[in-house]
Amino acid sequence: MAKQKKMSEIIVQIDGKEVKATEGMTILEAAQSADIFIPTLCHHEKLEPYGACRICTVEVEVQGWTGLVAACLYPVEQDLVVRTRSEKVDRIRKMILELLLTHAPCSPQLQDLAQEYGADKDRFEKESTFCILCGLCVRYCAEVKKKNAVGFVGCGARREIRFIPEIAATECVNCKECFPLCPTSYLQAAFVLTEALAFSTDSSQTVLNK
Ligand code: SF4
Ligand code: FES
Repeated sequence: MAKQKKMSEIIVQIDGKEVKATEGMTILEAAQSADIFIPTLCHHEKLEPYGACRICTVEVEVQGWTGLVAACLYPVEQDLVVRTRSEKVDRIRKMILELLLTHAPCSPQLQDLAQEYGADKDRFEKESTFCILCGLCVRYCAEVKKKNAVGFVGCGARREIRFIPEIAATECVNCKECFPLCPTSYLQAAFVLTEALAFSTDSSQTVLNK
């Protein structure tokens, strides 16, 4: 029988507090275990880390090296010192929010964060795509539901989510578990549009249960 590897304990310092973590944990997980808040937009505990939004950026110091890392990706290591709020961290989060707000200026979640970090939603010209490409819907449907009913299409500035009508018609109507995950509410609108365009072409479709 294979021997189970014992996870070694790692002590890190987060915002001046000593936090016990285990090997393999990310900074975000260690912070959450100690009730230290780090904002996230593309993270979900049931999904593989993705590192898309960078709002979880924190400042770290280890063995004389100082840098900025994504807390949801960066693994803890012995003697790591983490600052979840600093002038640099706040400045980066403010800039990230100003950029994200160009896509989704009405997102309540982004607006709350903008207030916290003093981000100006009118700093950059609006490019309202309504989606911030966090990938939560796409990854949740693939990794948790195993349905792949929603995916990304296009690339660069034209990248967007799209429901696959054939799958959505059978899988999404009674699921919709991804809706509350969307930080901008765009997902719901996109689904309603797909529904209107695709489902209405099939007159034999059962009346949808909204
Ligand atoms: S629709 Fe919402 S959940 Fe899906 S990628 Fe865009 S912002 Fe994220
Ligand atoms: S929450 Fe870490 S990159 Fe999005």
